[in-house]
Amino acid sequence: MSEELEQIQASYREGDTQFQLAGGEAGCMKLSNDFYDQMEILPEAKHILSLHPADLTESRKKFGLFLCGYLNGPERYEQEYGPIQLAPAHSHIPIGTDEKEAWLLCMKKALELQTYPETFKNFLMKRFAIPAERCRNRP
Ligand code: HEM
Repeated sequence: MSEELEQIQASYREGDTQFQLAGGEAGCMKLSNDFYDQMEILPEAKHILSLHPADLTESRKKFGLFLCGYLNGPERYEQEYGPIQLAPAHSHIPIGTDEKEAWLLCMKKALELQTYPETFKNFLMKRFAIPAERCRNRP
């Protein structure tokens, strides 16, 4: 990685930089909505869509509020629903490699729709791969 890229990525780890770059709470809600829109559109995501409730209203809200804290902004999910640990929260959902890849594809497509700097989008995709792997509970 170039020194310049390393410096940019280090700056993302300061304070609530990521939350601000994502457009604050409204931006997090937009990313969540775009993510779930992709899940409804992409044929590759048909199966993971079927694991969700038929009405995605609550899922869209929960994930958007979760993203606020995940991007080092206010802990909006925790304020509304209490603490969450991702792996236990997904333990009742069968998630293997295909489900993980489908989830990451929805996120990649959703990020393509955002006006964030490209470097930030790439950084986020690398970040999301880590919790996605932690949520996997099947070979
Ligand atoms: C790896 C593939 C993943 C799959 C297949 C998946 C699937 C699901 C499903 C089906 C639900 C809805 C559960 C329900 O309402 O009954 C859910 C909830 C949720 N997921 Fe995921 N998920 C994945 C990864 C992730 C990742 C990486 C994150 C965060 C970065 C995340 C964050 C959340 C949150 C915040 C909720 C709401 C939890 C709640 O309050 O019930 N998920 N997920």
